[in-house]
Amino acid sequence: MPIWCCAASAPTETHVVSEVVVIMAEPIRVVVTGAAGQIAYSLLYQIASGAVFGPQQPVFLHLLDIAPMMGVLEGVVMELADCALPLLAGVLPTANPEEAFKDVAAAFLVGAMPRKEGMERKDLLAANVRIFKEQGQALDKVARKDVKVLVVGNPANTNALICSKYAPSIPKENFTAMTRLDQNRAQSQLAAKIGVPVKDVKRVIIWGNHSSTQFPDASNAVAIVGGAQKSVSEIINDDAYLKGAFVTTVQKRGAAVIAARKMSSALSAAKAASDHMRDWFLGTEDRWVSMGVVSDGSYGTPRDVVYSFPVTVTNGKWKIVEGLTISDFARQMLDATGKELVEEKQEALDVCKD
Ligand code: NAI
Repeated sequence: MPIWCCAASAPTETHVVSEVVVIMAEPIRVVVTGAAGQIAYSLLYQIASGAVFGPQQPVFLHLLDIAPMMGVLEGVVMELADCALPLLAGVLPTANPEEAFKDVAAAFLVGAMPRKEGMERKDLLAANVRIFKEQGQALDKVARKDVKVLVVGNPANTNALICSKYAPSIPKENFTAMTRLDQNRAQSQLAAKIGVPVKDVKRVIIWGNHSSTQFPDASNAVAIVGGAQKSVSEIINDDAYLKGAFVTTVQKRGAAVIAARKMSSALSAAKAASDHMRDWFLGTEDRWVSMGVVSDGSYGTPRDVVYSFPVTVTNGKWKIVEGLTISDFARQMLDATGKELVEEKQEALDVCKD
């Protein structure tokens, strides 16, 4: 007997693979900005291979970059074709945001201006906030109203806030910023310290901004050791490490990768972007994941900034994990990163007035 695997949306194509009949869904349109850059180079394969939206979901990729990069982008398009991926329904390379965002169901906003030598943080923020204002306006005009937007380009949290502000017809819950790379880094540090596989460490949280003020918090984390689940604090039994070296290692991991590779994290950033979007589309069940979302003031954080919280996702909707105890140490850390986000928001809003 053949096995039927039906996807949720209307079937368009039927593939018979020996005894298994797979009905393919209608393709969804997915945009990646900064598509000629280094994160996109890893990310595009993951999306087109089914690792993000599932093995029955074809994708039509929209690739946005700036006009001078169209030649490089052409090479990326050639390579995507040469991958001969069954789920890749089509590719649209463009330098026009309104063309890129037309009818998209998911948006990976990776493209941003890199920090150049001698450039102040303020100048970088000003340049990038303008990009995300323009992209918010274009999303508002032409994207699906249920589009899920993941901002990767830095300063990711504040860029996501600005993008949402300039796309008022799309719910603000649909704009998120990536702190999943920080979560993955934190999980991996703890797994190595304890000596267990990374999959056996859970409930590590990244609070706040994707910057050096972020708070990687292991106080709720658990690990499976010898078949039993135990608290990470109890297993490691070293408060000074968990509040000190663990936190700073995660905060400075990006800089350590740059020092070694002479280029910023790309493979791991692409993997984290895939993890974030997959969990948002397909759900987390009882797993906690960290996402930068528009704050409702939970845990005494400032409202209306994009703040990273632990969330769970059901039916495409994220929900902040409630009821966690915040220690005095955590309070200070949450407040410091919140303060930075409030300052960034003010600077960004000043730029947008111009
Ligand atoms: P990259 O410099 O290799 O690529 C960036 C691409 O964006 C370039 O092709 C550039 O032409 C393009 N771009 C610039 N302005 C654009 C615009 N207005 N519209 C469309 N495309 C535009 O940089 P990479 O390594 O791919 O990183 C991209 C961003 O991701 C950077 O802002 C980086 O800081 C950030 N990042 C964020 C992480 C996170 O955890 N949230 C982790 C790692 C990187």
